[in-house]
Amino acid sequence: MYQLGKKVRMSLFGRSHGSCVGCILEGIPAGMYVDEGMIERDMALRRPHTGIGTPRREEDEVCIAQGLVKGVTDGGPLLITIENRDTDGSRYLMFKETPRPGHADLPAMAKFPHHDIRGGGQFSGRLTAPIVAAGSIAKQMIAAEGIGIRAFTRSVGGVVDACERDFDAASESVLHPTRACTEEMDSSMTREILDAASEGDSVGGVVECITVGLPIGFGGIWFESLDSEISAAVFSIPACKGVEFGRGFGISGMRGSESNDPFYVDEGVKARTNNMGGILGGMSDGMPMVFRSAFKPTPSIAKEQDTVDLRTMTNGKVAVTGRHDPCIVPRAVSVVEAVTALVIADQMRRGL
Ligand SMILES: Cc1cc2nc3c(=O)[nH]c(=O)nc-3n(C[C@H](O)[C@H](O)[C@H](O)COP(=O)(O)O)c2cc1C
Repeated sequence: MYQLGKKVRMSLFGRSHGSCVGCILEGIPAGMYVDEGMIERDMALRRPHTGIGTPRREEDEVCIAQGLVKGVTDGGPLLITIENRDTDGSRYLMFKETPRPGHADLPAMAKFPHHDIRGGGQFSGRLTAPIVAAGSIAKQMIAAEGIGIRAFTRSVGGVVDACERDFDAASESVLHPTRACTEEMDSSMTREILDAASEGDSVGGVVECITVGLPIGFGGIWFESLDSEISAAVFSIPACKGVEFGRGFGISGMRGSESNDPFYVDEGVKARTNNMGGILGGMSDGMPMVFRSAFKPTPSIAKEQDTVDLRTMTNGKVAVTGRHDPCIVPRAVSVVEAVTALVIADQMRRGL
């Protein structure tokens, strides 16, 4: 199993085309009411939308088989499973011989000689379904402490939302299939995705995540710092290629007098700007924690690409047919929220 966290610990299991995917979630306090309606709403946000998502029908019915009594946690591990129903593995077998560029096929087969390549096996975005379910429970745990998390789509391909967005604006993204903050951005991003798909291609983009309610000083330091643990978790999401907090890479070109966020008093200590993305020394500085994560274009594309034929060790070609998301970003938004919630819940239980 693949584990995230120490005290609030999620152990992930499953394969894209096995009987189910799931996780064991430990460390959620006993006596907490779990709103299963909220889990269902979060799962719905990860589901593919017609046109901009894979045609694979993912019902994602979450079963919490242990750890809940009449909707209340009993303090033991929660066993979360989601059946895989709409599976068709036949189109993947050729990738054993002609691995897809951009996907995990080549290194996976080198490392695991019996790799189940159907649907990408354990490297499939399908495994993010139980992460979203577990994250939804973690969100409910930290909401009780006044902490809220909302992510949205900042860009898709060449379409960039250039406006400042706060927590409330990010919350509006749940109304739009691309998870853009506004209807206008949603239509432009949808067009960008459909254009790429019509050419047998795919696009990437950026997810931005805003967390509010973290008290000043929350979070570990050094190798347990809040930003380093969140970065590790976000980088673990398939197709993530970059994470930056606040101004991120852009801050390197600023002067200290511009980049520092000056403090002032307003019912406590506040900062006038948020170039640091709410993190100083690995801990919250009381400002909203803001980070962005870059997702690459979906690797499985219908356009023909160069690859190798591993049987003959000659150069070859591959074109991927089947059911793939032309853009991962809209579905990754809820996964980013989920891993952020799991890390914060874990740091909270660790007393950091
Ligand atoms: C929600 C989600 C859905 C995904 N859907 C697809 C897909 O339909 N086709 C595909 O080739 N990759 C998809 N991916 C990405 C692959 O899983 C990922 O690129 C692959 O495992 C290689 O890992 P890496 O990109 O992190 O190196 C998806 C990822 C996520 C998070």
